[in-house]
Amino acid sequence: MTQFVQRVFSGVQPTGNLHLGNYLGAIAKFVELQKTHECVYCIVDLHAITVPQKPETLRASIREVTAAYIAVGIDPKKHIIFNQSQVAEHAELAWVLNCVARVGWLNRMTQFKEKAGKDRENVSIGLYVYPILMAADILLYKATQVPVGEDQKQHLELARDIAQKFNLDYGESIAATGHGEAFFPLPEPLIQGPATRVMSLRDGTKKMSKSDPSDYSRINFTDDADTIAQKIRKAKTDPEPLPSEIEGLGNRPEADNLIGIYAALENRSKADVLQTFGGGQFSTFKNALVDLAVAKLEPIASEMKRLCADSAYIDDVLADGAARAREIAAANMIAVKNIVGFVG
Ligand code: TYM
Repeated sequence: MTQFVQRVFSGVQPTGNLHLGNYLGAIAKFVELQKTHECVYCIVDLHAITVPQKPETLRASIREVTAAYIAVGIDPKKHIIFNQSQVAEHAELAWVLNCVARVGWLNRMTQFKEKAGKDRENVSIGLYVYPILMAADILLYKATQVPVGEDQKQHLELARDIAQKFNLDYGESIAATGHGEAFFPLPEPLIQGPATRVMSLRDGTKKMSKSDPSDYSRINFTDDADTIAQKIRKAKTDPEPLPSEIEGLGNRPEADNLIGIYAALENRSKADVLQTFGGGQFSTFKNALVDLAVAKLEPIASEMKRLCADSAYIDDVLADGAARAREIAAANMIAVKNIVGFVG
């Protein structure tokens, strides 16, 4: 078996409000992983333009996600923070992988079906091949672990399938060019903990998302303490007291969601949180959740604000990150071209 260097890669789209789902499902884990792994965290602006973006808004969002990465505690000196469009090899590898992936594989992608809706003939080709660009992002760095929310699971499975097919299709050439049995590692999705799918505060059966028309459905990174408190107090619940056992959360999506959020914010299990709040009313629990959410999120919001006021600093971080990302990407891309049989 080929041994690969352990490397974490993940990305966030710069397409508007970052919310609690992005934080608990992904970004909070980015911070943890930097203690034990070499990490590459990307602002995936090439992905953002698969749906229309206003250039000025896109520029601001790229800087805002960068500020969020730094504000949560990712160290841009020890690890790599960069925006995807500064490293041309993402698009280059995506093309090679377009020729490895099969149409039938893409046709199974549920997120494309959801995003395209009834207007499938009219969405961009980019939206359709989006998961292949995502596979290229990961494989370009030969990443071994990818922290993401539950909604990205299918895309990660596709990335593994593409890696495996490349390794098989080009097996002889991989060996002949001195890369052993496999060129790409099969990236492992890291989807763990009590909040891998944070749900809307207005409807516990719908995912919390930046595209929900109701701002009350989500808590944004930039919300102030009063707004966070209001949104949690107004969050939908049911009339029963909270259960004491985890089984009691079945068929109670709103209760399950709020308990999951609390657990993830405090790094505890849901069962443990129910030991504290089980049998009590939602109002008491919501007060505690407000305190906890404000304590965790407010410092991030104020640090983001401070950083966003200094776009020269943000741009320096991105330029430095891109230069370091490019080194890894360029070396791997040269190897891919060699394996495929390109000359030069
Ligand atoms: P994006 O920008 O939609 O979301 C960023 C991260 O947040 C997670 N997330 C959630 N987690 C829990 N509950 C929610 N309600 C919730 N909403 C979003 C997402 O799962 C994601 O981890 N395709 C990716 C971006 C991407 C990428 C990559 C990720 C492009 N290339 C390579 C990893 C590796 C996306 O659209 O994420």
